[in-house]
Amino acid sequence: MKHVFVLSILVAMVMSIAMVPAMAQDDPGVVNVYSSRHYGDLEAPFIAFTEATGIEVRVSAGSPRDLLSRLRADIDRGDRSVADVFLAIDAGVLSLAASEGLLQAIDSDALNESVAEGFRDPDGYWYGLSIRTRTLVYNLENVTEEELAAVNTYADLADPMWEGRVCMRPASHIYTVSLFSSILQDLGEEDATAVAEGISNNTVRYINSDTSQIRAVAAGECDVTFVNHYYMGRLANGSEEDVAVFDSVGIKWMNQEENGVFFNVNGAGVVKNSANLDNAIAFIEYLAATENQCGELECFPGSNYEFPTNPAAEANETIADFGEFEYDLAYGLSQYGEFQEATVEMLESVGFGFAEN
Ligand SMILES: [Fe+2]
Repeated sequence: MKHVFVLSILVAMVMSIAMVPAMAQDDPGVVNVYSSRHYGDLEAPFIAFTEATGIEVRVSAGSPRDLLSRLRADIDRGDRSVADVFLAIDAGVLSLAASEGLLQAIDSDALNESVAEGFRDPDGYWYGLSIRTRTLVYNLENVTEEELAAVNTYADLADPMWEGRVCMRPASHIYTVSLFSSILQDLGEEDATAVAEGISNNTVRYINSDTSQIRAVAAGECDVTFVNHYYMGRLANGSEEDVAVFDSVGIKWMNQEENGVFFNVNGAGVVKNSANLDNAIAFIEYLAATENQCGELECFPGSNYEFPTNPAAEANETIADFGEFEYDLAYGLSQYGEFQEATVEMLESVGFGFAEN
């Protein structure tokens, strides 16, 4: 992590030196993006945006926490911000940025039309651009049909039948925090705490990588885990070894008889004090447009096997094959930020792992 952080600072320094105060009239200019995506800086859809508009995309990557503190520092200086767009992999982080006044609301008919309600901030501070669900992956041989039928909710992994058979991502990671925040919001403090305690009492093996969690399930080191669905999409389209891993496991949508599967979005908001406001809006509008929400590699959702937030767009074929499901729309994305702190406290209180073991 450390080298990524140092690299981000270097990139930010180079960016600020390279910024020119005035641009020629016909120069489409730049859009500066602070991104907590971890799938390569110059992603295919960003390159496609530059090809379509001439606007250069400069990405400065970092963890959500680093980027939030850089945004705060930029805005505290009072002048125009270094970043124009804040791109985050978690609605909680986007909501926190909005509530701290780091983003500005935009009123774009194009965006309100492109992004389905439920996948964007109701006040226009940020818009979801792709959807990731967090759900069950299980070993096809070791989990019997009966056992599988008994896992329908996230809470079901608290059952002692899973003693010694569970892998989880540690609670130091945002993926685990946001998932358990949905359990907290849904069940309330007492029952959610019992679930977190029940799962952690099952002698969990903590692995800080979704792909490694799936590999561990495939290898029978554990039988069940919760992961983001797109890691399954990647394995299905990866090397021969990846495909063998994919073929040894199954995916099941959780909470289908309840509120629906837990999901999160990659979303983007325009930074307060953005020096390139029009380009920032154009960038987000481009990524949300139907033709750029496709399941192919050049599209934002497709490049990472995520689902589109634009209801007119089609999902990538591999993940469409995972079957139909309902999203949990009862837990509004703009609420995610509110539950983060209490969730971390809850996980801490029951001894849930915060590191690999
Ligand atoms: Fe990820």
